[in-house]
Amino acid sequence: MKSSRSSKEIHLIARPHGEPQKSDFALVETAVPDPGPGQVLVRNRFLSVDPYMRGRMRDARSYVPPFALGAVMTGMAVGEVVASQSPDLAAGDSVLHDLGWREYALGPAAAFGRVPAGDAPLSAWLGVLGMVGMTAWVGILEIAALQPGDVVFVSGAAGAVGSLAGQIARLRGAARVVGSAGSAAKVRYVCDDLGFDAAFNYHEGSPAQLLAEAAPDGIDVYYDNVGGEHLEAAIGALRPRGRAALCGAISQYNAEEPAPGPRNLALLIGKRLTLRGFLVGDHVDRRAAFLAEVGGWLAEGRIRLSETIVDGVENAPAAFIGLMRGENVGKMLVRVGGD
Ligand SMILES: NC(=O)c1ccc[n+]([C@@H]2O[C@H](COP(=O)([O-])OP(=O)(O)OC[C@H]3O[C@@H](n4cnc5c(N)ncnc54)[C@H](OP(=O)(O)O)[C@@H]3O)[C@@H](O)[C@H]2O)c1
Repeated sequence: MKSSRSSKEIHLIARPHGEPQKSDFALVETAVPDPGPGQVLVRNRFLSVDPYMRGRMRDARSYVPPFALGAVMTGMAVGEVVASQSPDLAAGDSVLHDLGWREYALGPAAAFGRVPAGDAPLSAWLGVLGMVGMTAWVGILEIAALQPGDVVFVSGAAGAVGSLAGQIARLRGAARVVGSAGSAAKVRYVCDDLGFDAAFNYHEGSPAQLLAEAAPDGIDVYYDNVGGEHLEAAIGALRPRGRAALCGAISQYNAEEPAPGPRNLALLIGKRLTLRGFLVGDHVDRRAAFLAEVGGWLAEGRIRLSETIVDGVENAPAAFIGLMRGENVGKMLVRVGGD
């Protein structure tokens, strides 16, 4: 029997200049065929919107190819198998995949990874237990090589990666964790709910001045989600032999021209600093260790799952634009409704 299902999906139809606009995207409704041999059909529950997607909207060489125009926005999603023609997955299985902003995803069974059994909510596999959590864990522990007693500064501290990086640093013995975020409410959230020792709103002054007030004796580790002025401030505040994990530079993602670098790079020499960029995708061999540690903290209630949920696949572009503007606390997700 032929399926009568249809799926709403979001296509990129124009490459943004500066800040992305809703008119850069289109909502398209497509018929969903039944799975063929070896295929499975998945009904999505949550879609991920992520800052790296801004880079893929450009027609430029990068570590990931650009999104195609007129095609569905790909990206991580989690959902349930509703029909399977593969012995590897059965109806009812929860799966992760990269087929993006759509209600239903159809593909070969190998395109879907089974969500490990456990009590964690499905959405956690796009956040604390997913790529975002692993980015925070790898960045703090392996790239910045956190040592017990370190003073740590995390920018983007109320966001998905930053909120976890600060909590992981604390759980692994940091002496003091300082964060920066874009509003007074986020600063309160970071300190009161996530347990950071201090935080500042970077709109209230220069990051260098505000960081000097929050960490008067300097810092040992900087977890950089923002780049630009924040990175310059951190280079100034790092103590001798300090380390920075360069995770992202969101302050520059909408820029049409490359921004000038930090003006104080020469400090790296005298202070013997290490600044190291990384991509979480290079560290898949660490996934089991990450899941064991962070999954354990989550089960014990020692790490806070924090997310902002926008309803409806049709609102994925608004969720993405909102993410870039700082409308989220924790992981920004789109919940997919339907029957
Ligand atoms: N290296 C990797 O493998 C890897 C993997 C995942 C993510 N990342 C990077 O990690 C960073 C955080 O990603 P995420 O998924 O956790 O996103 P997120 O922090 O949850 O969301 C983005 C946040 O960026 C902040 N922001 C926007 N414009 C800014 C500006 N001009 N200056 C300072 N902050 C600004 C906003 O918070 P405010 O309200 O505080 O401004 C916004 O909430 C991004 O740079 C991303 O590209 C890297």
